[in-house]
Amino acid sequence: MVGGEEYLTNSLVLGFMAEGQVRGVVVLAPLSEASWEIKNIAVSPNHQGRGLGKALLRAALDLCKDRSVQEVWIGTGNSSLSQLALYQKMGFRMMEIVRDFFSQHYAEEIVENGIPCRDMVRLVLRFTVE
Ligand SMILES: CC(C)(COP(=O)(O)OP(=O)(O)OC[C@H]1O[C@@H](n2cnc3c(N)ncnc32)[C@H](O)[C@@H]1OP(=O)(O)O)[C@@H](O)C(=O)NCCC(=O)NCCS
Repeated sequence: MVGGEEYLTNSLVLGFMAEGQVRGVVVLAPLSEASWEIKNIAVSPNHQGRGLGKALLRAALDLCKDRSVQEVWIGTGNSSLSQLALYQKMGFRMMEIVRDFFSQHYAEEIVENGIPCRDMVRLVLRFTVE
């Protein structure tokens, strides 16, 4: 989801564990004091579609609220239709498009749902009423 790995030094990772195994993780990092970004979220393939992704997002958003963060960003591909659905169901709204982000940062062409993944859609959830 991001071009570099520099965010790993100042990020927080929340994980969901069961039966001694990590089933899902979410990685968050501050962009500023008031604005944080979810840098990555993943649920193990065998456990997807059972609410774990939503639960991880909820935990990440609760953590941000506890720290008085005002807005949380998340980015995904133009072709990532289920992720776009999930994030909007959680209250995120589309805000920016970074054109050609994926075409420029990834050597291999990515195709999802029959759609070439070229652009990054950046969504934001603001805790104040919009
Ligand atoms: C994205 C990911 C973390 C979601 O985790 P998950 O545990 O499968 O998600 P959940 O089961 O909690 O929730 C999925 C929600 O999206 C909804 N959804 C998925 N595809 C949808 C579609 N096409 N239309 C409408 N809703 C859709 C589901 O219905 C569900 O919402 P609901 O509970 O209201 O029905 C997981 O699929 C994953 O790890 N994918 C691979 C890595 C990845 O793509 N990470 C994100 C990078 S941007």
